[in-house]
Amino acid sequence: MGASRIGILTGGGDCPGLNAVIRGVAKSAMLKHGMEVVGFYDGFLGLIERRFEHLTLGNVSGILTQGGTILGTSNKGDPFNHVDRRNGETAPVDVSDSCVELYHELGLEALVCLGGDGTMSIGGKFSEKGLNIVGVPKTIDKDVACTDETFGFDSARAMATDAIDRLHTTASAHQRVMFVEVMGRNAGWLALESCIAGGGDIVLIPEIPYRIEAIISAVEERHRLGKRFSIVVVSEGAAPVGGSQTYYRQTDDAVKSSRLGGCSRVIADQIESATGIESRYAILGHLQRGGTPTPYDRLLATRFAVQAVAMVINGEFNRMVTLCGGEMGSVPIADVVGKQRKVSLDSSLLKVAQEVGTSFGVF
Ligand code: F6P
Repeated sequence: MGASRIGILTGGGDCPGLNAVIRGVAKSAMLKHGMEVVGFYDGFLGLIERRFEHLTLGNVSGILTQGGTILGTSNKGDPFNHVDRRNGETAPVDVSDSCVELYHELGLEALVCLGGDGTMSIGGKFSEKGLNIVGVPKTIDKDVACTDETFGFDSARAMATDAIDRLHTTASAHQRVMFVEVMGRNAGWLALESCIAGGGDIVLIPEIPYRIEAIISAVEERHRLGKRFSIVVVSEGAAPVGGSQTYYRQTDDAVKSSRLGGCSRVIADQIESATGIESRYAILGHLQRGGTPTPYDRLLATRFAVQAVAMVINGEFNRMVTLCGGEMGSVPIADVVGKQRKVSLDSSLLKVAQEVGTSFGVF
């Protein structure tokens, strides 16, 4: 079976490698399989608002190394719960039927959706409406279920590790405790892996609630041993035992979603008050999502792209591309939706960190 025209969109937060997938899908589809490719702008908003373009090889030339996405992305375009504030709407409206109409009007045989859990959930609902969906997992959080890897993570880990390296020298110069807050939502992969790679002393992840007394004790112990500084890598989703996560903004609003962040400032203040050792914090924020993808992410993104096109050719729809045990594969999108891949307490990475003396902020 051969599809003649497919669509592609990038949904949710951006990450390095989106353009590499767009390029890979377009090249493989056009050059090897004679298909046409339609790119929708700003995620599902492009489907809702009928904003798209027919991609050419010229469009995708030179984008392999570029961060962001040439198609644009958005967290706000859920066609099943769409709030169009420009029309004065405040309650969500289901506009998915008009998206289905556009899909058929354009003669699409499949829609390749690049995104995380939210995008897969929307893709899954469109599958139920008869669209042929192929999902490609992206996120710097590495929290998409059923796949060992997502592109974007390696680039974010490299950026966070570089930041930890840089913060070592200034922390040492001033004999300070330096907190580095990294993204990751409710999964501690980015914090844990960048902490191991950067030689951090303490790591706080959402999967292991911390005790402030344990952090104080780890910092004081290093001080007693004559260490000039301590580096604490904090996941934005970290929380104390029995306590809650820290938010910049918490809301039930469908459009203005809640934003985690700021826990490093709170903990740094507590540590400075308790130990008398000067403490500072650095929140890496969206620097982790920007910039050029690493070679590993370019490779992974291109592998995912080629696999996605192969799935279209083979009629393997309503499935998400995966990489498990180093092998490309796919799983039903329904198996992924609503789940999060977190650091399990028996993870070998936790043991590695433990072996080299890293504290998890617990006794
Ligand atoms: O899911 C990716 C991510 O970067 C998270 O790590 C972070 O919590 C969130 O997105 C930030 O979202 P926004 O770009 O909407 O602030």
